[in-house]
Amino acid sequence: MSSPAVVYTSKYGSTRRYAHALAERLGVPAVELSSYQPASPADPVIVLAPVYATRIRGRRRILRVLRSAPGRAALVVVALSPADDPGRGDLAARLVAASGRVVTTFGLRGDLDPGRLTWPDRVLMSALRRALRRTPDEAAAKLLLPRTRVSQVDVATLDPVVAWAAG
Ligand SMILES: Cc1cc2nc3c(=O)[nH]c(=O)nc-3n(C[C@H](O)[C@H](O)[C@H](O)COP(=O)(O)O)c2cc1C
Repeated sequence: MSSPAVVYTSKYGSTRRYAHALAERLGVPAVELSSYQPASPADPVIVLAPVYATRIRGRRRILRVLRSAPGRAALVVVALSPADDPGRGDLAARLVAASGRVVTTFGLRGDLDPGRLTWPDRVLMSALRRALRRTPDEAAAKLLLPRTRVSQVDVATLDPVVAWAAG
């Protein structure tokens, strides 16, 4: 491991918490996606980003970072649904395919506090809930339909990412 870069984007803090915990364990700073300079000689590059309504936040910037990564690259996707949720896997796979690079992906679980959402996110969440009512047995539906606070951030789940960075 030479000089890893930990790059993240986060809206409500779950991904930020993971990024800072990971950066601390790797002994590097966590850098916001919007201010990351892809020209830096970092290797490996680890990008952390959350899922918002079936999209990975910061997709375009993430693609730029992955495409310009000088060495190994990983994408850590944070969402409410479980890491093996098929929808989630497909999202990460599509982003990786668009990057044209070999990228290792990890899935971590985030928090959601419905009471803290901005108005645009409340509107988005209502639309998402309407869609999820058609598939109430899906993992995302079970978590998002009840409108209750969900706390799932667990920095111990970063262990495989740390191991990958060291490898
Ligand atoms: C408007 C909105 C849409 C979301 N859509 C999804 C989704 O489609 N699937 C999912 O698993 N989680 C979804 N989430 C949950 C977020 O991925 C989760 O809250 C994550 O922890 C947010 O990361 P952040 O705190 O770093 O911004 C959504 C959250 C919001 C507010």
